[in-house]
Amino acid sequence: MRRVITYGTFDLLHYGHINILRRAKQKGDYLIVGLSTDEFNWESKGKKCFFDYEKRKHLLEAVRYVDLVIPEENWDQKTADVQLYKVDTFVIGDDWKGKFDYLKDYCEVVYFLRTPEISTTEIKEKLK
Ligand code: CTP
Repeated sequence: MRRVITYGTFDLLHYGHINILRRAKQKGDYLIVGLSTDEFNWESKGKKCFFDYEKRKHLLEAVRYVDLVIPEENWDQKTADVQLYKVDTFVIGDDWKGKFDYLKDYCEVVYFLRTPEISTTEIKEKLK
């Protein structure tokens, strides 16, 4: 069984998120999402979520491509997660291109093109 992992905040779940989850799942059989906790979002990314962690987790678990949601609590856990969950492929959007190349020592690393013209930040701006 090929295992794939991706990470993100996935606040106000939108079609850009669904697209990357669908493409991530196509890289294997089992998709794990490392979901940024509210504390990690606020303290490390300066993002305040509209939906709290439990609600974002619940939404992701309802997506057919997602098999497991785990918390992302810091920047440094990825190597350990890849080894713990025996991950074959790490996937993330190309807004992070190059940033996670260090994982290539442990698994395949794939950067997908982002879906154009949609982001949580943009939704929040437009609704203001
Ligand atoms: N993503 C994507 N296409 C988009 C938006 C997001 O492929 N249009 C991907 C990101 O590259 C990342 C994952 O979805 O791999 C989760 O991204 P996240 O930062 O949670 O979503 P954004 O909409 O980019 O949120 P924000 O505006 O707060 O950064």
